[in-house]
Amino acid sequence: MHRDPNKPKAPPTVPLTIHMEDPEGLGASEPTRTIMVGKGDSILEAAMDCGINIEHACGGVCACSTCHIYVEGGGSSLSEATEAEEDRVEEAPGLQRNSRLSCQCIVEGNGPIVVRVPSWNRNAVKEDPH
Ligand code: FES
Repeated sequence: MHRDPNKPKAPPTVPLTIHMEDPEGLGASEPTRTIMVGKGDSILEAAMDCGINIEHACGGVCACSTCHIYVEGGGSSLSEATEAEEDRVEEAPGLQRNSRLSCQCIVEGNGPIVVRVPSWNRNAVKEDPH
């Protein structure tokens, strides 16, 4: 993932709860984590910063759909989906009305924000068809 090193980091003031259907696959030891994130960070960046390895095949530039998450709360504290994101997220397996691409969800409001990472986030990449 390409984080701009010159981007000033806002103080972590926004609570973000991440539910994981397959925590081990994401490198986490428990199924739910609540972290504090700074405005201007994407959900993907915030998760990666605390060791939750959401898949991000394209490096966070809205060119895949592997960073798919469900936003279960606090969606109004996130940047709105662009048309490019909407087109892309339609390719994600398990598409729901609250589907977003985590690299495109920028924290803007005060939260609290709640998201869920589907279990196939890792499995789709890991599974070997023999
Ligand atoms: S990482 Fe590829 S679209 Fe988010």
